[in-house]
Amino acid sequence: MSARDGTEKMLFTAEQIAARVRELGAEISRDHAGSDSLVVLCVLKGSFVFCADLCRAIDLPLRVEFLAVQSYGSSTKSSGDVQITQDLTRPIEGEHVLIVEDIVDTGLTLSFLLGLLKTRNPKSLEVCALLHKPARKKRHVDIDYLGFTIEDEFVVGYGLDHGQKYRNVPDLVVIDASD
Ligand code: PRP
Repeated sequence: MSARDGTEKMLFTAEQIAARVRELGAEISRDHAGSDSLVVLCVLKGSFVFCADLCRAIDLPLRVEFLAVQSYGSSTKSSGDVQITQDLTRPIEGEHVLIVEDIVDTGLTLSFLLGLLKTRNPKSLEVCALLHKPARKKRHVDIDYLGFTIEDEFVVGYGLDHGQKYRNVPDLVVIDASD
């Protein structure tokens, strides 16, 4: 499936993404070997594809939780106004929590989430992000596991959207989102 109309640029193919996700899964499995309380926290909506693949690349007992945030609305620019639109259904107190994000852009969403989740007393709190766009950083956040660093371009596919479209595109592609 094509992202748009032929003007898009391929960033990472589905095969390249799969290879990187396998590496991340292996790294997380090694680092958490012996742990039986890993909570993989999928930040909806954008992370749903990445998280589904990452979970299957982690060779450990784990549970998956979902939390939905919205920071962009229908715009392509971060408003900085982060809202929880769906909260966790179970406590994370005393658990090792791995936040899974599709992209860290300004860092505002993750910074907000880390602050919120720390108040719930997890045993540890780590971040795995598929993409990092340092050019637009407003808040520094530590990313423990990172897939790819990218330029300041608008990326869709593999869960990432533009106006809620293109999440089902298997590759990561750059589109002109200046409209
Ligand atoms: C995207 C992405 C991150 C956030 C990153 O979510 O999934 O959560 O933006 O941007 P930031 O670092 O500038 O805060 P979005 O609000 O687009 O919602 P979605 O995941 O439902 O697509």
